[in-house]
Amino acid sequence: MDENSQKQRDDYYATVIDSVGDGVIVVASSGLITLCNPAAEEITGFSRKQANGSVFEKLFAQEKTLLEMVSKTIRTGITISDHENVVVRSTGRITPVAATCYPLVEGSGENIGAILTLKDITYIRELEAAVRQSDRLSTLGTLAAGLAHEVKNPLGGIKGAAQLLEREFDPESEMLDYTRVMIRETERIDHIIRELLELASPRGLKMAPVNLHKVLGDILFLQKHAVAGREIAIIQQFDPSIPEIMADEEMLTRLFLNLICNAIDAMGEDGRLTVSSRVLSDYRMAQNERRSRMVAIEVSDDGPGIPQEDLENIWTPFFSTKSTGTGLGLTICHKIVLEHRGMIKAESDPGHGTKFTVLLPLVQ
Ligand SMILES: Nc1ncnc2c1ncn2[C@@H]1O[C@H](COP(=O)(O)OP(=O)(O)OP(=O)(O)O)[C@@H](O)[C@H]1O
Ligand SMILES: [Mg+2]
Repeated sequence: MDENSQKQRDDYYATVIDSVGDGVIVVASSGLITLCNPAAEEITGFSRKQANGSVFEKLFAQEKTLLEMVSKTIRTGITISDHENVVVRSTGRITPVAATCYPLVEGSGENIGAILTLKDITYIRELEAAVRQSDRLSTLGTLAAGLAHEVKNPLGGIKGAAQLLEREFDPESEMLDYTRVMIRETERIDHIIRELLELASPRGLKMAPVNLHKVLGDILFLQKHAVAGREIAIIQQFDPSIPEIMADEEMLTRLFLNLICNAIDAMGEDGRLTVSSRVLSDYRMAQNERRSRMVAIEVSDDGPGIPQEDLENIWTPFFSTKSTGTGLGLTICHKIVLEHRGMIKAESDPGHGTKFTVLLPLVQ
């Protein structure tokens, strides 16, 4: 074979390896890395230049599972897979990966190294967490709805009796304070029950073009009055290019009202509430799925934040740290966002504030 066609063949193989979507790292039996494709660069955070020629054991000193897999494959010539326990930390963030290590065998049958493939499974892990979350919420929702039905009738009886009692007393009687408490509290329970029932029953969305900024602007306008007298700055950062989106306006109002009220509750006497919107043009809902354009709406405050251990519970019905909270607000938000085929997440830096991000599809 002449030099030219040898080069062409080398280029061809290099292109093949570079085009593989999974990370590929080849380690010679000497322990030196001889090949690292772009997907591997992205997962590990090491450039090809850094990786090629380095000692695998040194470069990946932190990743004990990978070290064991590679050294075992080189030693024994067997293929080893681990789809559960491997994470790569080199990039500064923790990437869960499915790793497989194949022996690199020459035509003569001699084992000359190992080929390590790494598949980024961040998306799968996120999906698993979302499914677990939805499962938990739907079980709880069904349970709560059953309970709500049972409570609704006796509650009506209590309220009716309290109203009758009220009429029996003299208008000046101190007893009226008690009946008012009874009526007010039954109304509160009734409100919780109605919310619960609504949460458990799938309500068809009334989709229509919605001007997001009008929805947000109206809520903020009303909240400005509510916080009058407190030192709370309300900042709007809207991207004017966002068109109307297909959504249920009433539901979106509930969603953002909940998030904004939570932020205001958290801040107390002073703080900064920022509501911003922007378009994420390249957001991928799923790997391999067609890229869909999403709108991101962020509601952030500089209140006390949410402790790490509470962060995963905030979506659970009845989780509340407020004396008068029902703890249904965020459960309802979660449901509304899912029904719109969007995503919602909370990030918090305890002591510095909280940011809720809602992603909604731009075109539905
Ligand atoms: N912006 C925020 N800052 C700090 N904590 C928050 C924030 N938003 C939510 N939380 C926490 O999450 C909990 C649950 O919120 P959620 O809206 O579900 O219920 P709630 O506000 O307590 O009651 P309600 O049902 O009346 O909304 C709150 O009690 C609070 O502890
Ligand atoms: Mg709330």
